[in-house]
Amino acid sequence: MARSAILNVMVAAAAKAGRSLARDFGEVQNLQVSLKGPGDYVSQADKKAEDIIYSELSRARPGYGFLMEERGEVKGEDEQHRWIVDPLDGTTNFLHGIPLFAISIALERQGKIQAGLIYNPITDELYTAERGGGAFLNDRRLRVAARSRLADSVIGTGVPHLGRGHHGFYLVELRNVMAEVSGIRRMGSAALDLAYVAAGRMDGYWEDSLNAWDVAAGMLLIREAGGFCSTKEGKQDIFETGSIVAGNEAIHGALLKTIKKPVKTA
Ligand code: IPD
Ligand code: CA
Ligand code: CA
Ligand code: CA
Repeated sequence: MARSAILNVMVAAAAKAGRSLARDFGEVQNLQVSLKGPGDYVSQADKKAEDIIYSELSRARPGYGFLMEERGEVKGEDEQHRWIVDPLDGTTNFLHGIPLFAISIALERQGKIQAGLIYNPITDELYTAERGGGAFLNDRRLRVAARSRLADSVIGTGVPHLGRGHHGFYLVELRNVMAEVSGIRRMGSAALDLAYVAAGRMDGYWEDSLNAWDVAAGMLLIREAGGFCSTKEGKQDIFETGSIVAGNEAIHGALLKTIKKPVKTA
């Protein structure tokens, strides 16, 4: 599989940041951790990985803008291009010693995601996609799962917690979905959830209150693997609303309907 020059730049930045994360994961008890808001932690590991990605990408493509979880928006001279980066998706897992976390990097060109990468440095699984060029796990071409019935499906989700999301809405959605599927998974990394859907490991996924850096790369992976994603309303403004529903065409459609079923009063 031949990667474009830009994807090689992204892979090199992720590999370097991944080595830093893997080292820090080995000594997680020594890391400085601070609280950004209720239940919302950031550690030195997140910041170091972000610094590495920022300097690698700036060096390779001077002038491109950035949207990064810890730095926020950094305007570039080149208004056509913007990197959207989550240096450590799954900080809570990381800080608890759970090896489910990832780096997510996407390149946006004129408002469209052009390339995306999700990298788990512990399993050394590298998911990449370029618009029109397909999605890959390491060298293997990806395709979303073919199951068409929720009854046969494993569905990923993100569960709201302290300071996050609309718990009342979510409980209704969860109750609706769990009544119809063969299994639910909550991995704790939205980027990996999306990568798993692209790889056909999970049949679908939904979550609320996400940011562009959680989903930008994963959305491209899913589409390039033949899948569908939208907001819970079936629209495309995922970055603005923060809700996402993903799967193959049938599962995506079935999830949209199921999530919204009215609460039955007995
Ligand atoms: C979080 C993870 C988690 C999701 C949260 C995100 P972070 O990202 O993706 O799975 O449920 O909503 O904020 O803060 O670990 O990068
Ligand atoms: Ca965070
Ligand atoms: Ca994240
Ligand atoms: Ca993060």
